[in-house]
Amino acid sequence: MMRRKHIVVVGSVNLDLVGVAERIPAPGETLTGKNFQVFHGGKGANQAVAVAKLGYPVCMVAKVGDDEFGERLRRGLRDGGVNVSGVTTAKQTSSGVALISIDMAGQNSIIVVPGANGKLLPRDVDNAKPTLRSAGMILTQLETPLETVEYLASVANRYHIPLMLDPAPARELPSTLLRHLTLLTPNETETCVLCGIDAGKLNCSTAAEYAQELRERGPANVIIKMGGHGAYLAGKDGRSIFLPAFKVRVVDSTAAGDAFNGGLAVALMQGQDLENAARFASAVAAVSVTRMGAQPSMPTARQVSRFLKQAAVSPSGGTG
Ligand code: RIB
Repeated sequence: MMRRKHIVVVGSVNLDLVGVAERIPAPGETLTGKNFQVFHGGKGANQAVAVAKLGYPVCMVAKVGDDEFGERLRRGLRDGGVNVSGVTTAKQTSSGVALISIDMAGQNSIIVVPGANGKLLPRDVDNAKPTLRSAGMILTQLETPLETVEYLASVANRYHIPLMLDPAPARELPSTLLRHLTLLTPNETETCVLCGIDAGKLNCSTAAEYAQELRERGPANVIIKMGGHGAYLAGKDGRSIFLPAFKVRVVDSTAAGDAFNGGLAVALMQGQDLENAARFASAVAAVSVTRMGAQPSMPTARQVSRFLKQAAVSPSGGTG
């Protein structure tokens, strides 16, 4: 059997401190929560675990702190099936932490304190070159310094390795970076920031237009992830496609976008075209939002295939 080329995720690792309350507090407000849990998270680490849970080989390039969380986070990744030989420790630095509020509809708001993620530098990309050079695809996000992401993009480009950027948290991006991307996968907020538009302007009728607009700025393919509203694809063949979301009972939407990107990468590596890969990714995300937490919510390939079979029978996705 031919050896599968691994996926590499270059990105963040966080400990998620999660409080559930009736609603997300307004500025200046104190609310009594319903429960508190700690999960392993970080957009990069979540995407790596999503890939590993689907049974695909994945290596992580990241930094954790030398505090009590660092070893725990590294172990969590390893136990999740991720190759952690590229996860190093930043001295005298705290690990990344995310403070997450969840409301009763499963919606979240997140404050990320980068800690060690802020110390993942271009020289760490250089140290990982042997792993990067032999990869089938590279995934990254924006919870590490932009200079590192830009440098990674130039390396991926030089080695002709497809690069998928999840532009989260939202920020404007230089065109030099956009031109090096095989895939750009913004959510609604990130699309508005990248396109310089007010939130009210992005909706189901305008999303296709903004996906095309982003694609014209450089990325070969763009997928706008709109949660329960579905996803809009602008592919390199010039086609725009709308994919409706699966209807499920949402418990916690944290890391749904990460589940999507992990699923998308695996399906593309397995040879699916963009539309089918995005449908698979959307199923991975749908299953993930029915469970609490970031990394613990990632489904196995068998669970996704069971979900898709059920969805084929029930147009609502069968679970909600
Ligand atoms: O995308 C979800 C993730 O965002 C959480 O796990 C949290 O760590 C923040 O990085």
